[in-house]
Amino acid sequence: MRIIGTGSALPKKVVENADLERFLDTSDEWIVTRTGIRSRHVISDERLEDLGRDAAQKALADAGLAPGDIDLFICSNVVNEYMTPGLGCIIAAAVGLQCPSMDINCACPGFIYALDIADSYFRAGKVRNVLVVCAEEPTRMTSWQDRATCVLFGDGAGAAVLTEGEGVRSIRISARPDPEKIWQFRPLEPTPFVTKTEVGLPLQMNGREVFRFAVTASIEDIQAVLAKEGLTVGDVDYFLIHQANLRIVEGIRQRLGVPEEKFPCNIQDHGNSSSASCPILLDEYKRKGLFKKGDKLVFSAFGAGLLTAAALVEW
Ligand code: UT7
Repeated sequence: MRIIGTGSALPKKVVENADLERFLDTSDEWIVTRTGIRSRHVISDERLEDLGRDAAQKALADAGLAPGDIDLFICSNVVNEYMTPGLGCIIAAAVGLQCPSMDINCACPGFIYALDIADSYFRAGKVRNVLVVCAEEPTRMTSWQDRATCVLFGDGAGAAVLTEGEGVRSIRISARPDPEKIWQFRPLEPTPFVTKTEVGLPLQMNGREVFRFAVTASIEDIQAVLAKEGLTVGDVDYFLIHQANLRIVEGIRQRLGVPEEKFPCNIQDHGNSSSASCPILLDEYKRKGLFKKGDKLVFSAFGAGLLTAAALVEW
């Protein structure tokens, strides 16, 4: 399969670090030095499905396809206002899709997990065109009193249209199950029969351990997808890394020994938008004209689960 269209959509409200200083014991200096983030887009009066719809429609227009051309829709999402149906069905209705729709909750590597699922459908000859939308509102998961988490996140949606062809050359998805490093608990409706204690908690994260894990796992994944194709780090034109923390991206870049210009970033004005991060990064730099035909792009993402994934794409 190959990528023939991309799109993205962001909430209109931009929250600067200075806005956070007004109600949190934090500073622009701490946030910029420790994360690279200066501002982020945050859901206010929008609904997440509207961002997902806009990103999908832009990707379809970019691909020159109509909703009726899509044979499979995969939506990557961690949290949204609906318990059911899946966010994918809500977005599918808004876009006018008629094909099967499935939702995955694979946290930050969700875009690459979706590519892997789509790849299997293409290889089985079941589809001609697939739409992937990653729509995320992690700012609804954190406590806005918890300075160690809320400053990190931003909301948004990114989309890609895939069609038959040669482009996505190798993908690796992996898991090192360890739910206690990043988790959130949301109690269900009470019943007359439930006797256990259920307490809702905002996002809990062991930042330092996730940081270390992210750098090591990403390097391993990148080297594995390259090795599968007999390539080395030097053959890659651009590395599109999940925008979780500029220091994580820098750590990966320095250990791989790659120059800065091969690591496009947008975390400075987005923060971490979970699985939407990679497709938003792809769409923004594609629209800036960064990628030329034949360029080799490597995606790498890591997050809750703990899940990680990487993909090698020839543009
Ligand atoms: O998508 C994947 C999910 N998550 C991640 O990728 C997150 C990975 N981890 C990280 O990005 C970093 O670990 C953080 C940005 C979360 C934290 O950076 P750090 O350099 O690991 O800082 P730390 O947690 O070791 O905290 C250092 C200090 C602490 O104070 P003390 O104990 O040294 O007095 C924190 O309380 O910084 C304090 N601190 C803050 N200070 C000002 C934590 N958050 C803030 C804040 N403003 N927002």
